[in-house]
Amino acid sequence: MPEFEDLIQAYQERVNQALKIALPPINNSRLVDAMHYSVLNGGKRLRPILVYLSSELGKTETSIADAAACAVEFIHCYSLIHDDLPAMDDDKLRRGKPTCHIKFDEATAILAGDALQPMAYELICSLDNLPDTTKISMVNSLTKACSHNGMVEGQMKDMQLNKAVSVDALDLMHEQKTGRLIEASIELGGLIGGLNSDELLILKAYGQKIGLAFQIRDDIIDVESPSSESGKPQGSDAMKEKITYPSLVGIKESKIRSQELAEEALEILTSLNLKTDKINSLTSYVVTRNN
Ligand code: IPE
Ligand code: IPE
Ligand code: MG
Ligand code: MG
Ligand code: MG
Repeated sequence: MPEFEDLIQAYQERVNQALKIALPPINNSRLVDAMHYSVLNGGKRLRPILVYLSSELGKTETSIADAAACAVEFIHCYSLIHDDLPAMDDDKLRRGKPTCHIKFDEATAILAGDALQPMAYELICSLDNLPDTTKISMVNSLTKACSHNGMVEGQMKDMQLNKAVSVDALDLMHEQKTGRLIEASIELGGLIGGLNSDELLILKAYGQKIGLAFQIRDDIIDVESPSSESGKPQGSDAMKEKITYPSLVGIKESKIRSQELAEEALEILTSLNLKTDKINSLTSYVVTRNN
């Protein structure tokens, strides 16, 4: 297997190419400019990579995986644009560049996010080489992940939690705001790979672990990674007195917990009788990355 960095680079290039094609063409529209700006601006593309890797566990056709990979990245980019708005985290730097509302303006940023979200569903629904039942399962998975019980509720909690919160409540917020889309990315890959329901359940359980681990690592990065490395303002969470893993249990405990979750995730994968070596490498990366 190639080195992990080479492996993710190949998938990143592949999805970047697919994203360029999936976005509406530049057409003198401020809205479309803002969509391009916020999607084609770097980003690790972790969620698309999860789609690719889980789809490769089964049998899949490249064009289907590309569409699903773009769909989850569109949702993710919309969530980042809105997350950075003054009404939410009020951040000015994203992926090493001015956030969408700084580069354009707030109204354009809200609308660019709004426009990216339905494109995800359009991409899935437009796939003509996939059975309707699979497409419905994919739309269902993505809808639930982003709903009032998923990502959006997690973001709501993020705005509301106070210092007296328990670790369990923090876990739930993390699982909702970040974990659910990560889980759905893995499920979408599994669905297009034609995995059976037992295999999908195992993948979902794995996704729940790494989704939580991913957000804990994100909280650690906010404390430890300089902006030059993370592409985001260092210390933003502390400045806004956000309830995060490091603020609640300390940085050392946060690292221990994220490592434990990664180990539990790897353990879950062992019950999958499929070739998981690439996903195994990705699991370690999730909790050691610095951006
Ligand atoms: C950042 O996600 C926001 C979270 C949900 C933690 P990523 O760390 O995946 O951001 P990009 O896509 O690489 O910029
Ligand atoms: C963002 O979490 C979660 C979503 C966008 C759904 P954060 O607010 O911690 O993400 P960053 O640190 O700004 O990337
Ligand atoms: Mg936030
Ligand atoms: Mg934020
Ligand atoms: Mg963060």
